[in-house]
Amino acid sequence: MKILTATEKPFAAAAVNGIKEICQAAGHEAVLLEKYTDRQQLLDAAADADALIVRSDKVTPEVIAAAPKLKIVVRAGAGYDNISLDACTERGIVVMNTPGQNSNAVAELALAMMIYMSRNCFTPGTGKEISGKKLGIQAYGNVGRLVAAKAKALGMEVMAYDPFVPAEKMLADGVVPATTLEEMYSSCNFISLHIPATAETRGSIGYSLLSLMPDGACLVNTARKEVINEAELVKVLSDRAGLKYVTDIAADCQAELNEKFGKRVFATPKKMGAETAEANINAGLAAARQIVEYFATGCTRFQVNAK
Ligand code: 3PG
Repeated sequence: MKILTATEKPFAAAAVNGIKEICQAAGHEAVLLEKYTDRQQLLDAAADADALIVRSDKVTPEVIAAAPKLKIVVRAGAGYDNISLDACTERGIVVMNTPGQNSNAVAELALAMMIYMSRNCFTPGTGKEISGKKLGIQAYGNVGRLVAAKAKALGMEVMAYDPFVPAEKMLADGVVPATTLEEMYSSCNFISLHIPATAETRGSIGYSLLSLMPDGACLVNTARKEVINEAELVKVLSDRAGLKYVTDIAADCQAELNEKFGKRVFATPKKMGAETAEANINAGLAAARQIVEYFATGCTRFQVNAK
């Protein structure tokens, strides 16, 4: 089988080599398309691929149509909002993610962003410490749990909201379960988002929640830009002079945010949450192993589209 790794944002070399070794050891051919600048390159490369490994690369119905032999797509990472699940399901193509494999890298970045914003974006002036401050975690999944543990180690009080996770599980981790989002937003100095972009969450973080945050509070987004209602974010930052926003995924209106709010906002130049060698290796190799196992045994563990 031909296994194509197509990553506009390339994996670390060790991950690329590891993927190749896993594929070849199982008798498959490994093909690499990285740093591509034109969609046509992806369409051409997919033409004879049996399997596809991607990161945030958009796997649209057009890509699926251009890949008549495609049997499986693995998103080396957590969020699979970049993949057209319906187009894959219609063709009987299995879609998987590699949950948890890059979570530590994202969690570390979330903490780093809190410190960066508390220290005036590393410019002169009196900053604040995060120790003793209260952190609210929205969605207590793989990343949320790691952020909680690290924040507690740094002396933060941690609260979390997740309707899908039992309160006992949070309590066992020393995390206070919030009954409502409103309760969490109104009592925390930092809110860290770890929700996926879905029909329910898109645009869900807006004025009504953000305006509840205490003075000087900071919203930390290492999840997806789509979960933010950007017009309402601009309004709340205008109305509440102390609030801050830091994101790993620049807003569509990031230029406006930067111009209006200066050091109260910050966006990384390119999404870097999972940009560590460790995360690349963990997620990339897991993706290759899942594909090899699927071809060998039909195992569909981690499948995210309808069967
Ligand atoms: C994920 O969903 O796994 C992260 O957003 C990482 O995305 P990336 O692989 O494009 O860096």
